[in-house]
Parts: sequence; structure tokens; C-alpha cells
Amino acid sequence: LCAFVAPAKAQTYPTRSITMIVPFAAGGPTDVIARIVTGHMAQTLGQSVIIENVVGAGGTTATTRAARAANDGYTLITGHMGTHAASVPLYPKLAYHPEKDFEPIALLAGTPILILARKDFPPKDLNEFVTYVKANAEKVNAAHAGVGSVSHVSCELLHSILDVKPVSVPFNGTGPAMNALVGGQVDYMCDQIVNAVPQINAGTIKAYAIATPQRNPSLPNVPTTAEAGLPKFQAQAWNAMFAPKGTSAAIVASLNAAASKALDDENVKKRLLELGSVIPAAAERTPEALATLVKNEIAKWTPVLKPAT
Ligand code: MLT
Repeated sequence: LCAFVAPAKAQTYPTRSITMIVPFAAGGPTDVIARIVTGHMAQTLGQSVIIENVVGAGGTTATTRAARAANDGYTLITGHMGTHAASVPLYPKLAYHPEKDFEPIALLAGTPILILARKDFPPKDLNEFVTYVKANAEKVNAAHAGVGSVSHVSCELLHSILDVKPVSVPFNGTGPAMNALVGGQVDYMCDQIVNAVPQINAGTIKAYAIATPQRNPSLPNVPTTAEAGLPKFQAQAWNAMFAPKGTSAAIVASLNAAASKALDDENVKKRLLELGSVIPAAAERTPEALATLVKNEIAKWTPVLKPAT
């Protein structure tokens, strides 16, 4: 007997777990944002999203891996202003191009930059910090997450304004760099706000200023760089989700919708806002808006960083 068997309806994406590459150590800003957003996306998509921290070379090791991954929607990356913009002028032999090798999915968060120091670093405020760093540029050190990372690029900008070249100490992410700052092994750092809020509130580090035009509601007592006397230092990073080039438009649309839904969720919003993130408006979350942001950020950072290479 030959029974007629209707062909099984092809299951729609995703049919198995998704890997989200985080190009820095666990516990840092990229990791925290990726975990908060993908935790909610997993509910929408009906599949788990597994975070894989792949460290090295300011996030470019992981980003190269993501660029070369299968473009089937099962390997994604949470990149940022460093991996998908500043790396271009800083790494002449970069093995990927942020615009040519990725499909933008969605902008996840804006992250203001703060100037932070170990608790017992002598300067009491930003003016004293500027004087102290200028006077002791050979002795002081700045922690960062590797060449091309947000923390590296932000402090490069600060150092160019102050015209100093202090020692820099690279880590695999500002998660471990923050541990060193709390432990007093390094002097200061220019870090994204999500990493800083819990430590500032716990009193384990100090914040001299936030490099945005307005104070942040999560840190109402931290002055802006303009208020504290260094208006030229303005810096805000961003974190965003990408898939390898050639990932289908249907998959990109499905991931974009899930990411946007996550950003509208009250609990996700509360967690991101408590950490000082800026949640992108709906118009800023589209793949097209992210493509434009990447293009503009490469154009912005290239002349700033090229002379340093
Ligand atoms: C950076 O400086 O690029 C980030 O803070 C890296 C991280 O998420 O640890």
C-alpha cells in the first residue's frame, strides 16, 4: 500500500538556537546589552539565543569570525562604534568591512561615555584631573578594551584634546578593565555608561564627567563635560546587531522585528534605562537607519583616527 504523505510544511526561521557573538569579555557593556535584548528576542523567536564571548584585538577577532559565518541567520554579532566604524582607520589590514560584509539588523542602544577613575586617584574633579594627567602623563595609565574599542577610541579623543599620551593598558573588554579599576590596578578609563552606573552607585569608582550635552537620569549627580570645564570632549557610543552579508531579507526582517519588540518591552526598557542607555526611537531601529549610521560613523572616525596609525 502506498499512502499519500503530504509534504511537511517547511518550518519558518528560526528552527534552532541562534548564536550571538559578543566581541568582548562577559560582564562588559556589549555583553550586558546583548544579554538584555536577546533575552527578550528569544521569547519572540521561540528559540534560545546563546551568547558566545569571543575576545581579542579590540573586538575585531570576533567580528572577522562573524563576517565569515554562514549567512543563515544562526550566527549574529552585537557590534558597536568600535567594531563597525573606528576599526576601519585603525586596522589597515582589517579582514572585514563593516558595510560590505554585514547585513545591519537593528540599533540597540546609545551609550554615553564617562571619564572614570579608581576611587583613590588623587584628582577630585575634572579640572584637577586635566591638570594632574597633563603633569603626570608618563606615570598615569588608562585602561581600555583593545585598539579600536570604544574605550580606547574615546580616551584617544580625550588625550588628543589634552595633548597627552599616557600609558594605555589593554584588556579583553571593559568588564575586566572595570575590575582592575575597582581593584586600583589602573588609574582611569573612558567607558560606556552601562558598565559604570553600578560601580558609581556602589562607590567603588569615581566619575568626573559624562561626555554628552545633558546629564543622564541614571547619574543625576555626574556633571557633563561642559559643566565640568571640558566642553570639547563629547562622546557617545552605540551598540547594534548585525548578520553576515547575504542573510535573507526575510530573516533580517524577522530579527529586526524581534529586536524592536524587545526595545519596546517595559522590563527591557527599564533595565536599559537604569544603566543609562539611550533607547533608539523606532525610526532609528531600521536596518536602513543602521546602514546609514555605520557609513556616517566610518566617515566621522576615519580622519580623527587615521593620523594615529
Ligand atoms: C569597549 O570599550 O569597546 C567596550 O566597552 C567593550 C566591552 O563591551 O567590554
